[in-house]
Amino acid sequence: MKRILVTGGAGFIGSNFIQHCLTAHEDLEVINLDKLTYAGNLDNLKTVQSDPRYTFFHGDIGDRQLLMDLISRKPIDAIVNFAAETHVDRSISKPDDFLRTDVFGVFSLLEASRQFGVKKYVQISTDEVYGPALEGPMTETSPLNPSSPYSAGKGGGDLLCRAYYSTYKSPVVIVRMANNYGPYQHPEKLIPLCVTNALENEPLPIYGDGSQMREWLYVEDSCRAIDLVLSAGEPGEIYNIGGQGDMTNLMVVKKILECLKKPEDLIAFVDDRPGHDFRYALDDSKLRALGWKPEVDLDAGLVRTVNWYKKNKDWWKKLKEGDFQAYYKKQYGDRLAKAKKTA
Ligand code: NAD
Ligand code: TYD
Repeated sequence: MKRILVTGGAGFIGSNFIQHCLTAHEDLEVINLDKLTYAGNLDNLKTVQSDPRYTFFHGDIGDRQLLMDLISRKPIDAIVNFAAETHVDRSISKPDDFLRTDVFGVFSLLEASRQFGVKKYVQISTDEVYGPALEGPMTETSPLNPSSPYSAGKGGGDLLCRAYYSTYKSPVVIVRMANNYGPYQHPEKLIPLCVTNALENEPLPIYGDGSQMREWLYVEDSCRAIDLVLSAGEPGEIYNIGGQGDMTNLMVVKKILECLKKPEDLIAFVDDRPGHDFRYALDDSKLRALGWKPEVDLDAGLVRTVNWYKKNKDWWKKLKEGDFQAYYKKQYGDRLAKAKKTA
């Protein structure tokens, strides 16, 4: 049996990935190490928690001693690192944990992998490290040009991975993905925020005029891509995982309202995010050459996502209570008070 350590497996993509792996591979054991920050949620893993091939450890990837204890207890074939602070807006108001986890946490995982001779290390990264794609899609050799403390932290993690490959021949593979969406995404992010606000007839805050563009990737498609990179990705290489075409934020939000049969006057144009990247776009031909392509287009993926949030109100209502209320008020209170109905 093959054993992988998934870090950050209680978050959005990590929990989808663990569910995907345990379904797709009978001969796989998964150890999940997660700090359970506000974004980590063991409710995401209810479907696998009694699977004998799954074990959960509560802890920080930056804790080297914990990593050593964990890996020396049972040898690990591969590490897939999802653990990160991930929300751009939070990185703007408080960058500290972003650097701690997204840079130093990666360093600590790379050191532990090196010490124990782990055979593969997959670093989950983002299109945001390339900065805005104003002139065309970014390839894996495009320069890094991050705009936010989040993307700078992720870029730092990527550079350490590159250095460990060059210096120590650590078998590191990096994937850089477009914006993911789907079940179990925290309601701080654009799509779940708009779906859940619309379900509660609350305003949908759109930054600026909503003309910024993102590529959207249904989370099942990214899990299949990461699984492929885990088995077939070449050490030292980077693979972009693109989404389904360019889409403005306003178009996406209007599609959500259409799915929910809610009126467009729920849209509230609010002050823009500082340093807001206008467009991300990825050339993912290198990954496609390995045999992957996305299977869920944005319309179908949004219907699935909206239905999941409609069916799982208890899951997200719990997340929108408590600390999230204070975050939301600080982030949106003043902006919504002076929001406009048209851009
Ligand atoms: P998320 O915020 O939903 O989950 C992050 C998880 O990491 C949480 O479970 C959290 O508890 C855990 N974590 C945070 N700090 C930790 C630490 N120090 N030690 C151990 N665990 C820690 O994130 P996500 O959206 O699932 O993103 C997963 C990865 O994919 C991240 O590395 C992110 O940068 C990358 N990524 C995400 C997207 C996206 O659209 N969501 C796109 C491209 C890349
Ligand atoms: P987000 O989901 O935060 O992902 P990222 O910043 O990593 O791309 O945001 C997606 C896009 O939606 C981004 O252009 C910012 C915008 N956005 C809004 O317009 N309003 C919001 O309330 C949020 C959270 C994001």
